[in-house]
Amino acid sequence: MGAGPAGLLLSHLLHLEGLASVVIESRTREEIEATIRAGVLEQGTVDLLADSGVGERMQREGFRHEGIYLRFRGASHRIALTQLTGRAITVYAQHEVIKDLVAARLAAGGQILFGVKDAALYDLDSSPKVRFRHEGKIKEIEADFVAGCDGFHGVSRPSIPSRHRQEFTRTYPFGWFGILVEAPPSTEELVYAHHERGFALVSTRSPQIQRLYFQCDPEDRVKNWPDARVWEELHMRLEGSDGWKLAEGRVFQKGIIAMRSFVVEPLRYGRLFLAGDAAHIVPPTGAKGLNLAVNDVRVLSQALVAHYRGDEALLSAYSATALKRVWRAEHFSWWMTSMLHRFHDDTPFQHRIQLAELDYVVSSKAKALTLAENYVG
Ligand code: PHB
Repeated sequence: MGAGPAGLLLSHLLHLEGLASVVIESRTREEIEATIRAGVLEQGTVDLLADSGVGERMQREGFRHEGIYLRFRGASHRIALTQLTGRAITVYAQHEVIKDLVAARLAAGGQILFGVKDAALYDLDSSPKVRFRHEGKIKEIEADFVAGCDGFHGVSRPSIPSRHRQEFTRTYPFGWFGILVEAPPSTEELVYAHHERGFALVSTRSPQIQRLYFQCDPEDRVKNWPDARVWEELHMRLEGSDGWKLAEGRVFQKGIIAMRSFVVEPLRYGRLFLAGDAAHIVPPTGAKGLNLAVNDVRVLSQALVAHYRGDEALLSAYSATALKRVWRAEHFSWWMTSMLHRFHDDTPFQHRIQLAELDYVVSSKAKALTLAENYVG
């Protein structure tokens, strides 16, 4: 269920092992290939995509980064990811990963049904069925297993009876306003900025296209933010006494993202297995969402392969195995979010505590390593 990174990669990994799957997606191919999401791939994500034969364009067009900057009190401090951990991150947009996976599945004769409506799951604890409308007809697929990879708002998670699932949620009192800009990079590496007016992030997509974010009211509207106001806010939050300047450019995309932490447990009900955003959400501050989805399906594909070889142990352990990494990333994303954002009820005391923690992260090797090893995965 779902042609996002989790569903498509799972289908691809299963195909490499000779296992057949059908991917069911409510949106069109054009929509999924154009949706702007995150862009930071952990080393392990890069390695898995490359090793499974879908990393060629990523390796050609992605950008390897060996550090990030934390910026506060008007100065930047580098966290040397690679020096600290031996690993790096790659900046390559999620929708580019989607394009590569769709192309690989279709080239291998894989089935992806786009534009599916009214999908519903049945008999998940015996012989699972998916019923849906596609190209004007009602269709049904019976399968050994269903992988629920259809995101936070998909049908998979709510198909688990509520007495069989437990949900853990934290909503943050802010969102991120994101823009895509035609401009040269203002920095070689990502900048995570703490400021009295709120968090800001400088990311990139290519030497010509930059991705910028700033913390905003989650109820705010894009129409309230004409370009001039966006730039004024970004300059205030990002520039400081050290003279570093943010380069402006033509803004060609704007959007507001909600910030939430969420986990459902367990990730299994009968023959339904949840993976990716259907199972868990992290705030984007740690850049973990896509990487968690990839880890889920790495574990799930290996477990399904073992099942068909007669070994149930990995499938029985799937939920617990995947949740370990999920909760590590939940903690890391919550920590980064808490350290860098301005909260409504912030007191001057809390502001000083955030700065004390940031000072510690950039001056203690132990604390910098904590950030780095989580960030690179
Ligand atoms: C992005 O480039 O979209 C991006 C980068 C880092 C984050 C979140 C998003 O933490």
